[in-house]
Amino acid sequence: MNDTADKLTFTRPDDWHLHLRDGNAMRSVLPDTVRRFARAIIMPNLKPPIVTTEQAAAYRARILSALPAELAGRFEPLMTLYLTDTTSPEEITRARASGIVQGIKLYPAGATTHSDAGVTDIARCEATLEKMEELDMPLLVHGEVVDPAVDVFDREKIFIDRVLTPLLQRFPGLRVVFEHITTREAVEFVQTAPNRIAATITAHHLMLNRNALFTGGLQPHHYCLPVLKREMHRQALLEAATSGHSRFFLGTDSAPHPVRDKESACGCAGIYSAHAAIEFYAEVFEQAGRLDRLEAFTSFHGPDFYGLPRNTDRISLIRESWQIPEQVELGEEKLIPLRAGEHARWKLA
Ligand code: DOR
Ligand code: ZN
Repeated sequence: MNDTADKLTFTRPDDWHLHLRDGNAMRSVLPDTVRRFARAIIMPNLKPPIVTTEQAAAYRARILSALPAELAGRFEPLMTLYLTDTTSPEEITRARASGIVQGIKLYPAGATTHSDAGVTDIARCEATLEKMEELDMPLLVHGEVVDPAVDVFDREKIFIDRVLTPLLQRFPGLRVVFEHITTREAVEFVQTAPNRIAATITAHHLMLNRNALFTGGLQPHHYCLPVLKREMHRQALLEAATSGHSRFFLGTDSAPHPVRDKESACGCAGIYSAHAAIEFYAEVFEQAGRLDRLEAFTSFHGPDFYGLPRNTDRISLIRESWQIPEQVELGEEKLIPLRAGEHARWKLA
């Protein structure tokens, strides 16, 4: 990192958890990510989901061809497969051999947006998980139980005890990314877990606590899953992200939805942050007095965990206030980005 008070220059970051969607929607949001990040782990929860290596290869080709000419060659999509009850061990072998699939995503069925095709019982995936362990294919986990008897704010904590801990014991060689962690319990879990367990942390979970869902009325654009938690948990995430611990790294979970799907009687989960993602992380680290640890979190820990090379080019942020747009295009629709209409303090140079 090479800083003056008003300019930060550091290794180009990667986004280790991103929703790009498909078609025209993807075409309109992709540049926000590509201007900032060199690579991104692309979530497979399309409708229908990406469940085979062949589908992942086709999706990857669509992403690359959606890049605007001036950004062509500047971005590498790291693909994932969506784990289902019927994903076969052979599919994992194909995924590993392809060289383009970097992880298999576990959505407990019904846990979040487009998760209905997800896993109903992890015990059904035994042989597939064994193959992943054997081939060192990481499991990327949406860590929430779906048991309706469990309070929505406790779903992550209960998932650790009911699902994650037994899973790690059952597969002692499996590499796991606990995605978008939101609680102190998840932070402590990762800190005390073996080296094969890491976690991504979003910008919105670092910036907001659950009051943001209700400030001045119901705020659908602050609704995501796992849902925002108490301030105590935000503090724990902030501490983890800025601690320098190598198994916490950047994953935005930027998840675009059209305005009408968010501002609805049944508003869907997802916060769009790709338009200012690295700027938001810089702001958070600065407020914590930890800008010196920003680069490792955004640009080193992720590739190190995935066993990929660190990026060699650099980006710069300058200290200049700019207004975040009120709306962003999403194909033929619009979306409301995080902190719409407000000012960001760091600007991409
Ligand atoms: O808020 C969320 N939105 N959480 C997820 O896990 C999925 C995502 C989406 O795809 O919209
Ligand atoms: Zn996600």
